Amino acid sequence: MTDQPWQNRFADSMMRTFSPPLAMLVRGEGCYVWDELGTQYLDFLAGIAVNSLGHAHPEVVAAVTKQISTISHVSNYFATPPQIELAERLKRITGAGDEGRVYFCNSGAEANEAAFKLARLNNTGHRNRIISLHDSFHGRTMGALALSGKPHMREAFEPVPGGVEHIDSTIKALEATIDNTVAALFLEPVKGEAGVIDLPDGFLKRARELCTEHGVLLIIDEIQTGIARTGAWFAYNHAEILPDAVTIAKGMGGGVPIGALVTFGWASDLFRRGQHGSTFAGNPLVTATANAVLGVIERDDLAANAFRRGQQLREIILGFHSPLIEEVRGRGLLLGVGLTEPVALKLGAAALANGLIVNAANETSIRIAPPLIVGDAEIADFQVRFGRALASL
Ligand SMILES: Cc1ncc(COP(=O)(O)O)c(C=O)c1O
Repeated sequence: MTDQPWQNRFADSMMRTFSPPLAMLVRGEGCYVWDELGTQYLDFLAGIAVNSLGHAHPEVVAAVTKQISTISHVSNYFATPPQIELAERLKRITGAGDEGRVYFCNSGAEANEAAFKLARLNNTGHRNRIISLHDSFHGRTMGALALSGKPHMREAFEPVPGGVEHIDSTIKALEATIDNTVAALFLEPVKGEAGVIDLPDGFLKRARELCTEHGVLLIIDEIQTGIARTGAWFAYNHAEILPDAVTIAKGMGGGVPIGALVTFGWASDLFRRGQHGSTFAGNPLVTATANAVLGVIERDDLAANAFRRGQQLREIILGFHSPLIEEVRGRGLLLGVGLTEPVALKLGAAALANGLIVNAANETSIRIAPPLIVGDAEIADFQVRFGRALASL
């Protein structure tokens, strides 16, 4: 068996839930990864916005090594120093402040499951509707699927939890929908999986106003956009609003699985003892790692770097003046290249053949989400490799 090519071994042993892998990666350093044949790739996807500090960052390696050789798991019956430190840090960077509360979990979908339960607890009067946006993505578990505005992902698994309605991402639709029968409004500030689609100007501000007016929880999914990726700790910072709850995962762990639900103000009083929990959640290994990741992002002001490098990338991509490129969407280091023709898969494959990892989010969008540590050398390398890929089509 083991003398078979890895593609066969993968196909024969892994559940067929996803498309076949593009390469077998064995090592990473900074913004680069290598496959089993020694081919080097510039990683401008970062495990889909996960590897905030790139690969094998020395401070992440040190944090994991120190914590796993000290104490790595204790169960929910005990507290640990890194867990409390991370919760306090999240309260500060989210803006939740003294009234904030943090629930730790292991993934983005789990953070949204916790948020879904929070929404059910906002049930005074006849309040039982949950509103989410068409074409949004909130994860693959049953509650997260119910929240996601992608019917084709749900169809095979119906019935999913009920009470969720999907609306267009317009201020008009918001105004027509949000009232005192609504428990929560879920939204992604930039729809990453949909191809990096921005919300209309003023949408978040109006959502905040309407939710406050009607006692609706504004729950912002920052799983892809958060942790400095868009040039601020959270994308809602650009709109100068605060949510009632935010879900976080991906980039917070820099590669270890961790998620969180952070509540603000009155939303912090909704959960009661015994209503939620998870074995691994917030264990000292992952929280110590996340503390190291967030510490580096803050110390090195990687939010500012994300903003500046995002501008540079946007100029480079538009500077190709390719008839295939219609626009560049997104913010900071979460960018979507909108294509004039449905060739995203071909362009993604051409990029890979030129040693560049980007992602075809759909037929007409390429998603770019490099590590937040990208510098001049990697940006210049991207220009060469992406340019070659474009020219080869
Ligand atoms: C906005 C958003 N929410 C939720 C999720 C689900 O996160 P996870 O894959 O960690 O469950 C994702 C993953 O891509 C996401 O982009």
